[in-house]
Amino acid sequence: MPGLIERYRDRLPFAEGDPVVSLHEGSTPVVAAPWVSERVGAEVFLKLEGANPTGSFKDRGMTCAVSGAVRDGAEVVVCASTGNTAASLAAYAARAGIGGAVIVPEGKIAAGKLAQALMHGARVIALRGNFDQALALVRELTQRHPIALVNSVNPLRLEGQKTAAFELVEELESLDALCIPVGNAGNITAYWKGFTELGLAPRLFGFQAAGAAPLVEGRRVAHPETVASAIRIGNPARWEEAMTAMTQSQGAIEAVTDGEILDAYRLLAAREGIFCEPASAASVAGLLKHGADGARRIVCVLTGHGLKDPQTALEQSGSVVPCEPELGAVEDAILG
Ligand code: F0G
Repeated sequence: MPGLIERYRDRLPFAEGDPVVSLHEGSTPVVAAPWVSERVGAEVFLKLEGANPTGSFKDRGMTCAVSGAVRDGAEVVVCASTGNTAASLAAYAARAGIGGAVIVPEGKIAAGKLAQALMHGARVIALRGNFDQALALVRELTQRHPIALVNSVNPLRLEGQKTAAFELVEELESLDALCIPVGNAGNITAYWKGFTELGLAPRLFGFQAAGAAPLVEGRRVAHPETVASAIRIGNPARWEEAMTAMTQSQGAIEAVTDGEILDAYRLLAAREGIFCEPASAASVAGLLKHGADGARRIVCVLTGHGLKDPQTALEQSGSVVPCEPELGAVEDAILG
């Protein structure tokens, strides 16, 4: 499969001949989830966005945002990030041969994402503050300097991310409901745009972590906290659009606790063979907890790969079995 600008050019704001910065993102697998299906009594599929080139759905938006920045002659792209946008920006900026800078909350991004941003050569700024502060600062920065902002406040990000809705409809033909984690609320907004452009209206169920659930509480959260660091956000940039998506689709936005997120995270790995990062498991945690109001055919979006956050994985899983290099010891270790 080509990258998504090539695949969906007729529905994206890119003309033939425009520069395209691509790592062949998109076209991710949709797999049936028999165990989750059994638990909820409906047909449930998982959209594996961790299969994108940098391991998260952010690549869909980033191919468009960075291609647009190159078209506009930008020499540097910047974003605030809880980690995945940073990793994606860094990869696409490297690919484009332009500068990349990311501002992340100090000590609050998963190890894999930090490694990616650094390896791709982005300048990584560790802010002594949270994501919401970082976003406010980069918005101000990009008003003063000729640097392209590629957070999901950039409309090209949503254009790219809406293609996941196209893929789902092409693959499944129909779906009744979509369950999705919500942080800065760009992705739920993008899916709704995609479905709307197709004239479809599956119900959108968005899930936030209980310690970072401004859309559920109806007010900003000054000090968001959750194990799902990717969605540790207290003042989503796409707040209004996410509420519109929820209302127009007759969906809901609900909270799930860290305990519920971690249960779903472990169960997806152990029962479905699918390792996603904690924030992604919020979609399944939400479905298991709140249901999907009678929907029969449901897709949960698993937004990022489990390898992004090895530390949480090791904390949440069993320990290794030490063993001497002798057959008897190996037999005991494996069969015992
Ligand atoms: N899942 C993962 C793995 C994410 O990284 C994010 C957001 C979301 C879900 C929520 O998506 O913000 O569009 O509602 N991560 C951003 C980042 C904030 O900086 O990587 P959203």
